[in-house]
Amino acid sequence: MTTTPSSEQGTGVSLGMPQLPAPAYPADVRARLEADAKEIIARYPGSRSALLPLLHLVQSEEGYVTRTGMQFCADVLGLTTAEVTAVATFYTMYRRKPSGDYQVGVCTNTLCAVMGGDAIFDELKQHLGVGNDETTEDGKITLEHIECNAACDFAPVVMVNWEFFDNQTPASAKRLVDDLRAGVPVEPTRGAPLCTYKETARILAGFPDERPGAVEASGGAGPASLIGLRLAKGEEPHPRVVHPRAGGPQDEAPAEHLSSHDAPQQTSASDPAHPAGPTAEEGE
Ligand code: FES
Repeated sequence: MTTTPSSEQGTGVSLGMPQLPAPAYPADVRARLEADAKEIIARYPGSRSALLPLLHLVQSEEGYVTRTGMQFCADVLGLTTAEVTAVATFYTMYRRKPSGDYQVGVCTNTLCAVMGGDAIFDELKQHLGVGNDETTEDGKITLEHIECNAACDFAPVVMVNWEFFDNQTPASAKRLVDDLRAGVPVEPTRGAPLCTYKETARILAGFPDERPGAVEASGGAGPASLIGLRLAKGEEPHPRVVHPRAGGPQDEAPAEHLSSHDAPQQTSASDPAHPAGPTAEEGE
């Protein structure tokens, strides 16, 4: 019986011949990471609780969680590499192979999908010439479809290195990735300014984001979410939210926190070139 190693299927887990020991970090890198790890581990009553941020830390070094990184985590936490691997392969925020500077995630969960997320993802695959979880030849963009990011009131949502780009269309998403590849600065719709994947990983490891204004930057609930709050308070539900299948952007409240990539534009509901679903209600 022939078993195809699952690493060939993109999972990064090998079922074939045992691998050689992971190569060591250079001494200076190891010393630097050990100092960082000590700081992280000191935050927790039990050292093994530091595994998740430590995986972000090693990801910040090489852009993904290498075998060397997992060996490092095992060493400093007194765990086996099997225990570390089990965690690193469970969570999708840990990358297991070399990837791009910018992780472009298109939400294709239910609401974003019907609002145009599926169309955006299909167009980006064609535009970039890559499939899901694949990286462009220039090493800039890794494209993936992602699950709901709790930003449904800004659907369809694209995330770059976990920063929000709201109310996207296929055209705006293509412009976004073109700018990222060309090195043109782009601004998320809300939250902190964009940084590279490695820089993001270090912040996720728990180290301060020292860029001016980054910590103060934030985002609030969108108009659609606030409707419920206003109704609960007995107020007029303004601004009006239109059923996505019944109207276009001309009927919708303007989005808040506009960025260079989500200025007022067509949504999939009004863009005939990119239909996102039925355009009429049942019985109409
Ligand atoms: S469905 Fe896309 S953010 Fe919730």
